[in-house]
Amino acid sequence: MKLWVCAVPLVVLLSALANAASIGQDERVRYDNYSVYKVKYANALQRSVLLQLDEESNDFNLWHEASDQVHVMVSPKAKLEFEARMSQMNASAEVLIENVQSLIQDGSDGALRDSSFGWTSYHTLEKIEAWLDEILASYPEIVTGFLVGQSYEGRDIRGIKISYKSGNPGVFIESNIHAREWITSATATWFINELLTSSDAAVRDLAENHDWYIVPVFNVDGFVYSHVKDRMWRKSRSPSAGSTCIGVDLNRNYDSHWMENGGASDNPCAETYAGLSAFSEPETKALSEYISGIKDKVNVLFAFHSYSQVLLSPYGHTDEEFPDNYDDLLQVAKAYADAVNSLQYGTTYRYGSSAEVLYIASGCTNDWAYVKADIEISYTIEFRDTGHHGFLLPPTHIIPNAEETLAGITALLAESRELGYLELKYDL
Ligand code: ARG
Ligand code: ZN
Repeated sequence: MKLWVCAVPLVVLLSALANAASIGQDERVRYDNYSVYKVKYANALQRSVLLQLDEESNDFNLWHEASDQVHVMVSPKAKLEFEARMSQMNASAEVLIENVQSLIQDGSDGALRDSSFGWTSYHTLEKIEAWLDEILASYPEIVTGFLVGQSYEGRDIRGIKISYKSGNPGVFIESNIHAREWITSATATWFINELLTSSDAAVRDLAENHDWYIVPVFNVDGFVYSHVKDRMWRKSRSPSAGSTCIGVDLNRNYDSHWMENGGASDNPCAETYAGLSAFSEPETKALSEYISGIKDKVNVLFAFHSYSQVLLSPYGHTDEEFPDNYDDLLQVAKAYADAVNSLQYGTTYRYGSSAEVLYIASGCTNDWAYVKADIEISYTIEFRDTGHHGFLLPPTHIIPNAEETLAGITALLAESRELGYLELKYDL
């Protein structure tokens, strides 16, 4: 327990009262008048103060972090103290979202009312799995289901493989490792549908000349929890001995420079808690084993995230070293960003190594795939937006975001092919 008693008495008091956001057992967590602030910080000390808030109290929740700013959600009770503290340390704080609850009502509840599957609302895990079953039944020659393994709470983690012929290079997509990033599974399912149904020549080429391995909802326990209980949930749902806090950040739990360089937290209450050891969690262990088993067939990996519109290549654990093929990684990322930007929406994506563009983060999927599974084209993609809705991206963005993803991936793979990354890694 860190002592902030002199500096921020109110914060300590509130954290002692605990769980400001959560209420009764069966009710959903509400975020009435919770606001999201963008804080530009001037130095490392300010940064660490801001990051600590998240670990110390439920009145603060980290939404986004980049090299010069953080976005943090603040409870109504803690706002005055927070603003005072920010001005005290001369950091500029700007409100991005006034009332988080109002976006939750606009954006996600519609999904529960809409009975047909489509991309004008977000869907529950149950609906997504029922849709996957339909796809499997409709395209038995092309689509096969695979089981990654079981989650902590015993749910199946399901994936599908789309393959039109043998001898294709493989592309793996991990999606929704972070529970609240609903745009990722909405995009993944739209993308699957497009591969199977589009008559556009470029999409046919994409679909038929690559093998696709797609896990639309990887963090199944967290995803269900984000639907039924807490829309802002990020982690998995496994308990930690000696703590009342639940969940591991699965994107810090992979066995690649695990817990190095401060790229994750050892505090079970932190949003970036890395777990007790690398692959301590059944989800990451299962996915890493699944990918290892097919690694010769996988040339490219994408991990879908939101938000901030960036493409992140290795490394995440250090900004002092770069992968051998870093120039190529930049070149193919540029192809993605240019393709997205040329669409009618004009959306811009930045790109570069994770550690450089965002922050040091260790134990992430795409770094593990690069370092340990020899997948040389390996990205984390952070979708829309840049913070005006954050994780609560309205469903009207699903199709535009998915169209951008399709255009981006098409261009990225074409560029990767040019550079020789789609050659088969095995003998036919
Ligand atoms: N927002 C993601 C996260 O915090 C991005 C991580 C990117 N870093 C990396 N090393 N791949 O988990
Ligand atoms: Zn994420």
